[in-house]
Amino acid sequence: MHNLAHVLANSSSPDALQKVISVTTDTCIDICKALHKGSLAGILGVAGNENVQGEEQKKLDIISNNMLKNALLNCSDVRAIASEEEDDIVPANTQGQYLIAFDPLDGSSNIDINAMVGTIFSIYHDVGEQAATEQSFLKPGIEQVAAGYVLYGPSCMLVLSTGQGTQMFTLDPEKNEFVLTQSKVEVAADTQEFAINMSNQRFWSAATQTYVSDLVAGATGTREKDFNMRWVAAMVGDVHRILCRGGIFIYPWDSKTPNRAGKLRLMYEANPMAMLIEQAGGKAHTHTQRILDIQPEGIHQRVAVILGAANEVDKCLSY
Ligand code: AHG
Ligand code: MN
Ligand code: MN
Repeated sequence: MHNLAHVLANSSSPDALQKVISVTTDTCIDICKALHKGSLAGILGVAGNENVQGEEQKKLDIISNNMLKNALLNCSDVRAIASEEEDDIVPANTQGQYLIAFDPLDGSSNIDINAMVGTIFSIYHDVGEQAATEQSFLKPGIEQVAAGYVLYGPSCMLVLSTGQGTQMFTLDPEKNEFVLTQSKVEVAADTQEFAINMSNQRFWSAATQTYVSDLVAGATGTREKDFNMRWVAAMVGDVHRILCRGGIFIYPWDSKTPNRAGKLRLMYEANPMAMLIEQAGGKAHTHTQRILDIQPEGIHQRVAVILGAANEVDKCLSY
């Protein structure tokens, strides 16, 4: 069984990129340990302030953000970072060649119920004589050189793509390293399982309402087959399920907040997950376009997300 260092050394990724991935994933091992201590370390609960997007921050949002920030800013190959929990990008080393955007803790409403959470990251190559700016980060997702997440579940897993498929690794807690446990992840084109927050139903567009009611109608409706529903309430958990056993995940536009395109963030959630899903043979779209083709307008931009089984994503878009 090969560890992450071995797999990276045998990939076509440059040494500096391997280093940035290792620093990121090593820090995630530390985040995993902090999470496991939970109440014993007094780290659960709210921090008492909001992030730039107006969301309540949990203590662990801030702790995991600071851990990643400190580790990456001290890595000479990192040019700058952008985080869901930081107002602005943070320049690191002008000579560094990589930009890292991350969601330090995805699914933070799950923390206090001891359910699945994760860290999501997205890496771009970027060089320049001047320090990086927000503009440096505004590249379409298709330009990501690596993307991944670490899922803090019953076992701690790393799911990674450097553009040559999607691989899964499992943390060996004794050796403190990720070990390759699935070298080629594939998402089946068809599915009978969907994930959507049904409580928003009345706020969806007519098309989303019709599509989901056809799923719910099952064998007695136009789809002529029954569908199962799952909702982890952490994108990282829902995407992981889809990479393991298929399905479709939808976080659509809704009229509750009509002026935003969706709830999920393009740079920290949609792009990295879209790369992992596409590299596994699935599809990832907004209501109108492929996520990886979006030209970002700001680091905290939000988008609608429809991803997973290729034929089911097409079906959803056909509504
Ligand atoms: P975060 O914890 O980073 O703010 O992200 C939570 C996101 C995403 O992981 C999940 O799919 C979605 O929010 C769930 O939101 P609701 O339960 O509010 O629908
Ligand atoms: Mn998130
Ligand atoms: Mn988060």
